Amino acid sequence: MSAPKLTARERIDLLFDDGTFAEVDRLVTHRCRDFGMADRLVPGDGVIAGHGRVQGRVVYAFAQDFSVFGGSLSETNAAKIVKIMEAAMKVGAPVIGLNDSGGARIQEGVVSLAGYSDIFLRNTLASGVIPQISAIMGPCAGGAVYSPAITDFTIMVRGTSYMFVTGPDVIRAVTHEQVTMEELGGAMTHNEKSGVAHFVVDDDRDCLRLIRELLSFLPGNNVDDPPRVETSDPVDRADEALDTLVPVSPNQPYDMLEVIDAIVDDGHFLEVHQHFAKNMLVGFARLGGRPVGVVANQPACLAGTLDIDASVKAARFVRFCDAFNIPLVTFEDVPGFLPGTVQEWGGIIRHGAKLLYAFAEATVPKLTVITRKAYGGAYCVMASKHLRTDANFAWPTAEIAVMGAEGAVNILYKRELAAAEDQTATRAAKVAEYREKFANPNVAAERGYIDEVIAPRQTRAKLIAALATLTTKRDKNPPKKHGNIPL
Ligand code: HXC
Repeated sequence: MSAPKLTARERIDLLFDDGTFAEVDRLVTHRCRDFGMADRLVPGDGVIAGHGRVQGRVVYAFAQDFSVFGGSLSETNAAKIVKIMEAAMKVGAPVIGLNDSGGARIQEGVVSLAGYSDIFLRNTLASGVIPQISAIMGPCAGGAVYSPAITDFTIMVRGTSYMFVTGPDVIRAVTHEQVTMEELGGAMTHNEKSGVAHFVVDDDRDCLRLIRELLSFLPGNNVDDPPRVETSDPVDRADEALDTLVPVSPNQPYDMLEVIDAIVDDGHFLEVHQHFAKNMLVGFARLGGRPVGVVANQPACLAGTLDIDASVKAARFVRFCDAFNIPLVTFEDVPGFLPGTVQEWGGIIRHGAKLLYAFAEATVPKLTVITRKAYGGAYCVMASKHLRTDANFAWPTAEIAVMGAEGAVNILYKRELAAAEDQTATRAAKVAEYREKFANPNVAAERGYIDEVIAPRQTRAKLIAALATLTTKRDKNPPKKHGNIPL
């Protein structure tokens, strides 16, 4: 049983530092005179909007009040939200939306649709300029899910929040499909299945605490740097356990989270999209007090292969970090793209290209550590040197090749293997020969594609030193209106 929902006012109080919230348009009411609305005027019209401080920094927010017309969006209610979004863009401060709304106010017709369109436009113009975070804190439909979809991060509260374009009743009427609110648009549905939501929390308090933590990694806008903090974790801390963490057998999995935790400040990793595409890890951490965006293959799930969901998940995260000056640290152990008709017909070519594009266009400091496999196209994609990555490290266990030994031998020596008297022995000899050549980082290091082969225990110190060097990095892309990322 989850904790009861807080009121919009309580949510605002918990989000901001004590006593810092300044509300705007508290007395605004709606202008609708139809459907008996003329005598149903509520000051504020069901949304609280304003600005305050979070950990001392300016942040704008709105909180919809479900107890007023289901938190639905009226003309004047939309104008209040647009007002703070425009102010936030001028000031260069994040906008937090605490959504709890049945969408466009039905009684207002096209005027409420216009209100949502005004918000969508501001969401889009603000994208990449100021961070936008959406919390879903009740049943949300229509515009109350489309506006969050344009923002950078969406958080859902377990058991009390729902997101859908149309609810179970309409679905039953149109398609005769029976589905519960929870199955259709509950927190785990969107965290695990659709990937619409990035975080799930247990209750409203947890949600507001998470927003504050997420903000601690982010700059106020795309011109500022992310906030640095003091850390007591030594920059040269060498974790010897890393030296033996990668199993000797190339097919044995291990948990990349252990690698990340051992390297980042205080082992603190704020994982984003934890329940979606678990073969890819993304999230925020700090190195020497500097926020970084971590992107990592997870060998413990689907052997760390790149599939459609993993590519899309990582691509969006990479683009967010790049937009907001957050350096990218990539940990790589990837045997390639996931083969099969499901992936091919689902468009892995198009979706995988998103990640390639995202890493290639990113101009923030980029650091890569290859822990084990870096095979084929996935080698190119995962922030390889060729995509303008600044520092590429490899552990001695790295294997950089077009494909794994077994697959390569089957292709290269097809005829010899077919003609061999002892196929097993011939195959074993060829596999050993191939592994001798490619199951190490040396060929890539000789070419300069790997800057340095490092002992795993040195990784933290090496990354922090590289980040310090790259603090003043400036790189840019050719002038253009915008690129055409394969969507
Ligand atoms: C006006 C609304 C409302 C709405 C809810 N209410 N949604 N009033 N406009 N959009 C009112 C209800 O009439 C009710 O009022 C109160 O809010 C609580 O609603 P309930 O239905 O009793 O609550 P619940 O059972 O929890 O269901 C919540 C809900 C459901 C799932 C959100 O209300 C619902 O399906 N609402 C409509 C969703 C929708 O289709 N919205 C329009 C989307 S179009 P009383 O007075 O009885 O307390 C849109 C355009 C955007 O948003 C464009 C996108 C691209």
